[in-house]
Amino acid sequence: MSGIDEGTLERLRDAARVAATHAYAPYSKFYVGAALLFDDGSVYTGCNVENASYGLTSCAERNALFRAISERGAGPRIRAIAVANRNRVASAPCGACRQVLSEFVTADAVVTFPDETGPQTRSFAEIFPYTFTLETQR
Ligand code: THU
Repeated sequence: MSGIDEGTLERLRDAARVAATHAYAPYSKFYVGAALLFDDGSVYTGCNVENASYGLTSCAERNALFRAISERGAGPRIRAIAVANRNRVASAPCGACRQVLSEFVTADAVVTFPDETGPQTRSFAEIFPYTFTLETQR
């Protein structure tokens, strides 16, 4: 699909699982971790951070991305995204995160996330078609 082997994806899932242990989620008690593999080989992780004012919550996937950009700019593109949770339930990236991630993925980026049967891997294009982009506005 993307040329990323299963061993690399499993290491990325492991990084997401570790990140989920740092989640601050006292309200939902849904503990999420994300790990992003970039085309320069770097991996950045994030966890969800909630707030008493619920709407200010920030998802694991966006926190990972914003951390990466904050540390070394927006040049590198995302080749793979892993999402994990400590609740042992199915969870793919939410719609808001798909929109934000879409500006930084390679054309063949993949997403791996748990469903009821175990890890599922899909192309980013499959889970987020008809993307609204900068080009859309021109
Ligand atoms: N959450 C994420 O971190 N990523 C997602 O893709 C889905 C939702 C978080 C937000 C909130 O802290 C909790 O999960 C419940 O929605």
